[in-house]
Amino acid sequence: MLDNLGNLRRTHYCGDLAASDIGTKVTLMGWVNKRRDLGGLIFIDLRDVKGLAQIVIRPENEAVFAKAEKLRNEYVAAVTGVVSAREPQNVNPNLPTGALEVQAEELFFLNDCQPLPIQLTDVALADEDLRLTYRYLDLRRPALQRIILMRDKVVKSIRDFLCAEGFFEIETPILMKSTPEGARDYLVPSRVQPGKFYALPQSPQMFKQLLMIGGFDRYYQIAKCFRDEDLRADRQPEFTQLDIELSFATQEQIFDLLERLMQRLFREVLGIELSLPFPRLSYQEAMDRYGCDKPDLRFGIELHDLSGCLKDSQFQVFRSALDSGGVVKALAVPGGGDYSRKQQDELVELAKHQGGKGLAFAKVASDGLEGGISKFLSETESASIIKLCGARPGDLIAFAADSYDMVSKVLAAVRNTVAAAQKLIPENTFAFAWVTDFPLFQFNAEEQRWEPAHHMFTLPREEHIPWLDKPEKYGSIIGQLYDLVCNGTELSSGSIRCHRYDLQKKIFDILGFSEDELKRRFGFFLEALKYGTPPHGGIAPGLDRIVMIMSGAESIRDVIAFPKTLKATDLMCQAPSEVSEVQWKELHLKPGE
Ligand code: AMO
Ligand code: AMP
Repeated sequence: MLDNLGNLRRTHYCGDLAASDIGTKVTLMGWVNKRRDLGGLIFIDLRDVKGLAQIVIRPENEAVFAKAEKLRNEYVAAVTGVVSAREPQNVNPNLPTGALEVQAEELFFLNDCQPLPIQLTDVALADEDLRLTYRYLDLRRPALQRIILMRDKVVKSIRDFLCAEGFFEIETPILMKSTPEGARDYLVPSRVQPGKFYALPQSPQMFKQLLMIGGFDRYYQIAKCFRDEDLRADRQPEFTQLDIELSFATQEQIFDLLERLMQRLFREVLGIELSLPFPRLSYQEAMDRYGCDKPDLRFGIELHDLSGCLKDSQFQVFRSALDSGGVVKALAVPGGGDYSRKQQDELVELAKHQGGKGLAFAKVASDGLEGGISKFLSETESASIIKLCGARPGDLIAFAADSYDMVSKVLAAVRNTVAAAQKLIPENTFAFAWVTDFPLFQFNAEEQRWEPAHHMFTLPREEHIPWLDKPEKYGSIIGQLYDLVCNGTELSSGSIRCHRYDLQKKIFDILGFSEDELKRRFGFFLEALKYGTPPHGGIAPGLDRIVMIMSGAESIRDVIAFPKTLKATDLMCQAPSEVSEVQWKELHLKPGE
């Protein structure tokens, strides 16, 4: 009953048919999106990855008509026929091929289809777990197809751009030794060397630096990275970086390269012209003004330090924060003056969720502050607060009092939430910015030791290099580190690397690596730095996150063909899974240990 494909060849994609094809005989292949029987005529919407085409089957062609009657949704069919214009009253303006149809001459019934476990509507209806279990069906939904095709365009555009800029695409190993990027490693046991493991790369960081030492002065790779960390809406255990490294490059050159790359991607893929250069903020400025190092700059709302004007405040919450060396900061919620008690309580909950103790409020009236904590504020204090916050009558002021870090965390979350609630985030806007000048080290008070704030292979600012010998200065050393952020997401991270053995060794010493551990983990890398390492630096945009931003996808799972759940499970093939006892033995492992 099924037809064979034989020598039949597709001539056109359904979605590619154009008015210029009228009168042409075409062969289309795809899935039955819908079949309608209409007074003796049968219409089939045939679908492929490029879109839909309407096929008309007339009763005069008896054999074809009989076959068409058997077709159901998602059956696979091929059609040969001539393209014609639809009658004006039948034109569908919502469909790119809506003015055309194909008069079927031959029909090939290539495969049938069981009743579907999920519906293939553009907007997903089924529960996500079910859709991930049947991912190959979910992938037929036009919404997902558009994103996956966009990803392909992005990758092609990246390759074209970097090739034209003289970059070499070079692969680095997947089975390797741990690269420290701060997450847990995925490990692969060795069969031939009992008790030994490979680590999957958290990024190709060390290899790309070794390529610079190897002389390939402009490297890139679309690289798979693996990190065993807590997953979120923008994190997958297995994700892709556009990994880039250049020798003899300054931070400015890398910014320029990335800006032009982004400009080209947005132009080629979305037809949007980004204006360059992207604004820049130092890490400190980002923290002071927005409370986080990846601020969403699509809207205003800034944090303001009120510690000075409240230095004599007797309001207990403020007093105790200031007395213990903390700060009082606030932001004005535009038009938030009419927030209900419930809305305010939700913000307090949000603050507590971030680890804060609470949030205090006051409304801005035409003659000062009112309600909330206004009764604890003097007139002068109220006037200064309104002025510092740039608030207007009808706004709500939200105050947080705590350590600088906690206040930043709380108000950054409040800022994003109220901007969404007040509809202050414009659609189709891409607010890029560079965040620069991160500290090189941060002190882990619990463990009483210095940690890399970002990246342990980074060169300090040249004028801070002497501070590597001054322990009291460690916390002030600024690294040549930079992030590219867009709409509140960290898209890329990079740095100018430490190309000198002596400096890298000092950094490892400050981080407290013992000679033994250094040798074991990074011996080969430190050794390599001794043999004529050129100055170099790089950056690694997350490809998944770029596609998320460009497509407007809400979850990283929507931009990956076969993603994993928040529990790092592949629901379709049920990975991870148990393995046989033989495999345990071969790998010299023991179950349950
Ligand atoms: P970093 O660890 O900041 O830097 O990663 C760079 C970029 O990779 C993306 N990213 C992720 N995307 C999805 N899921 C994840 N779990 C995930 N983790 C990171 C982000 C991030 O900005 N070797 C350095 C780069 C360098 O210095 O050149 C590195 O890996 O978009
Ligand atoms: P309390 O003194 O705990 O009753 O709090 C008085 C008001 O201040 C309440 O509205 C609390 O939500 C708020 N509040 C408590 N702690 C903080 C804080 N650290 N920062 C800002 N407001 C706070």
